[in-house]
Amino acid sequence: MAENGPLFGTVVEVEVGAPAHGGSCVARHDGRVIFVRHALPGELVRARVTEDRGGAFCRADAVEILRPSDERVAPPCPHAGPGRCGGCDWQHASGAAQRDMKGAIVREQFERLAGIDVADLFAGVEALPGGLLGWRTRIAYAVRPDGRAGLHRHRSHQVEVLDACPLGVPGVGDAAALARSWPGLTGIEVARSADGLSVLAHRPGSGRQARGRRPPDRVSVVDGPSRLTQRVGERDFTVAADGFWQVHPDAAATFAGAVLAAVAPQPGETVLDLYAGAGMLTALLAEAVGTTGNVIGLESSRRAVADAATNLADLPWAGVRQARVDEASLAALGVDPDVIVLDPPRAGAGRTVLAALLAMRPRAIGYVACDPAALARDVRVALDAGWQLSAIRAFDAFPMTHHLECVALLTPAPSGG
Ligand SMILES: C[S@@+](CC[C@H](N)C(=O)[O-])C[C@H]1O[C@@H](n2cnc3c(N)ncnc32)[C@H](O)[C@@H]1O
Repeated sequence: MAENGPLFGTVVEVEVGAPAHGGSCVARHDGRVIFVRHALPGELVRARVTEDRGGAFCRADAVEILRPSDERVAPPCPHAGPGRCGGCDWQHASGAAQRDMKGAIVREQFERLAGIDVADLFAGVEALPGGLLGWRTRIAYAVRPDGRAGLHRHRSHQVEVLDACPLGVPGVGDAAALARSWPGLTGIEVARSADGLSVLAHRPGSGRQARGRRPPDRVSVVDGPSRLTQRVGERDFTVAADGFWQVHPDAAATFAGAVLAAVAPQPGETVLDLYAGAGMLTALLAEAVGTTGNVIGLESSRRAVADAATNLADLPWAGVRQARVDEASLAALGVDPDVIVLDPPRAGAGRTVLAALLAMRPRAIGYVACDPAALARDVRVALDAGWQLSAIRAFDAFPMTHHLECVALLTPAPSGG
């Protein structure tokens, strides 16, 4: 990574402005934008430039706080700070300030990428139960060449060796795996479920990847259960230990509650659940539409589809099919859904998929999004097609980090298409 621009390594004094998407705040110096980490809006700081690629912006770490914000707190983790662990972004901010900054980012992303002001729709970022620490039920630790485990430093391949991560639930944050050496592994993952603790080894994958990228790791369970039971409301779900499940213990139920409240599925309706994973939303949607309804999930992972078959066994009017969500797989369904729910990975659904969904003319689309930028871009596509953003909520399901989850409701605009 080129880090040799003129400002690299220098220390500059800057007034810190608004939070930026990604865990820093925006400052200006000599006409250049500087994204400053470890700072808060309104602070005056001395910041060391950590990256200057000669473009319009550079990155820096606040190394001295000359005028602190009232929202500044002492980071509870001894590994937080400039040049240290990159797992968290906001250890130095109060919980209220973290949510305020995330809310500002949601508003800013919608203004910039969707061209709309969501102030009237959006009440701010909602906290999940449990506080800022001890919420991660799964942590993927990185392993150094010498076998010691920790977490990557910010934008670095270097690993900060840890004896505990305060974000983890017991057994995960203070994992015994951290006290051991793991020679030959690229990572060690620890997950807690109702069945106990699972430890998964990441070994270097084989084969070649384009553009010098590392092949995907080979992942295997080395200790504990290989199938995890996860509970949402009254239902238990079974998920492969290396399959997708929300990491915050209250996240799945919270997002499911929000998306069901938004789209209000009615008995007898046909619903599409896209990017369905192990069928968590599929099952809850199926319960809502009842035996006269129909829920069709699409999911690309073969293993998640197998888990979904188990999880939906008592709901024969619901099923998850293995397919990538794209124009062709949507057309092949041959249904006119009343409601579509989508929960895509970080990149969002994208223009083509969204256009195909809008063309199906459902009465409502519920969108669960882990990146407000991708959501805002996809919402713009819907607005251009005569749809409206009718509701949006955001949840702090990832305290101390810049991440957040949004749940949005899109409906056809009264006068639109
Ligand atoms: C954020 S998870 C959501 C899972 C599920 N809704 C839940 O809450 O448990 C996204 C899922 O999309 C799947 N996925 C990723 N890209 C996909 C694609 N192009 N088509 C279908 N599924 C995809 C992943 O395997 C993953 O299970």
